[in-house]
Amino acid sequence: MSLLEIKDLTIYYRLQGGWVHAIENVSVNLESGERLGLVGESGCGKTTLAYSITFLLPNNAYLKSGTIKFEGKDLTKIAIKKDGGINMFAEGLRDIRWKEISIIFQSAMNSFNPVMTIGDQIAEAIQTHESIGRQETEERIRGLYEIVGIPKDRMDSFPHEYSGGMRQRSLIAMSIALNPKLIIADEPTTALDVITQDRILAELVKLQKSSNSSMIIISHDISIVAQLSTKIAIMYAGEIVEMAPTREIFKAPRHPYTMALLKAFPSIRGEKRRLVTIPGSPPDLVNPPKGCRFSPRCPFAKDKCKNEEPQLREVSADHSSACHFFEEIFEVR
Ligand SMILES: Nc1ncnc2c1ncn2[C@@H]1O[C@H](COP(=O)(O)OP(=O)(O)O)[C@@H](O)[C@H]1O
Ligand SMILES: [Mg+2]
Repeated sequence: MSLLEIKDLTIYYRLQGGWVHAIENVSVNLESGERLGLVGESGCGKTTLAYSITFLLPNNAYLKSGTIKFEGKDLTKIAIKKDGGINMFAEGLRDIRWKEISIIFQSAMNSFNPVMTIGDQIAEAIQTHESIGRQETEERIRGLYEIVGIPKDRMDSFPHEYSGGMRQRSLIAMSIALNPKLIIADEPTTALDVITQDRILAELVKLQKSSNSSMIIISHDISIVAQLSTKIAIMYAGEIVEMAPTREIFKAPRHPYTMALLKAFPSIRGEKRRLVTIPGSPPDLVNPPKGCRFSPRCPFAKDKCKNEEPQLREVSADHSSACHFFEEIFEVR
């Protein structure tokens, strides 16, 4: 049994003018000890996918199909209303959040209660799930502060008294406070400088390894997840378009979008060209393009790509790609 098993997940957001196809038919498995990097440009559905795991979604989000099993238990049975709407406060989800699955949110500012000190908020999270005394709790928080590099005497500060980077670090401290089995880090270090970023991510991975927990690390930048993840899922326009062990993604990418994120398109004649950016931007997900959603931007697109929707297919046992032509389009790096 996998720790996390997401199967055929489809989540839409309701808008006045229609539905945003935010996640379409996504399947991912994660074993204990694995670190999944979730990569794609902004607007490709990474946050929606990650937050759906504990159903922390806005109230216009609807589950259209699929299951999310954590340790074999289908969480959609707990959280989904009859009409597909999501009850993010459903009984049973509270027990899972922080203790079993923790999320380091993209925006740390909104994650804290402004009228409580950060130390008290971490203490509350710990004491909600574990019956340990005040002193032991404080000791644990001091240990966490050391790991994330915040001076211990700042425990009694309020969120607005912290810098953006310190808030982000205290959120990381909170996310590891209860030794969860799965840590989801959504672009966790964008508010930090590069050196702090490297140090904290390395620290997170060290912790994850020592406890054999799993991680999902989200970034728009594939180079950030490269060092950290054991496997990578590339998302484009609400779909996973390629998934493989990290080394394989870098050595032998089999989807043009992945190649684009790696900034290396092979040209038609075979010589390699470096691109600084991918021309165009991800599509409007209210009316996603017909056929392959990447085809309007793909330098290799043929008629079939514009008309037929590609399925994720096996390239090899643990490598899959959703390009119609992955047999022909690959790069020798
Ligand atoms: N509450 C919402 N209502 C409607 N559309 C939304 C909402 N939240 C996100 N979206 C849309 O869903 C898509 C996926 O967004 P998101 O999951 O945040 O992507 P990413 O994290 O990759 O940037 C985007 O098109 C975004 O505009
Ligand atoms: Mg996001």
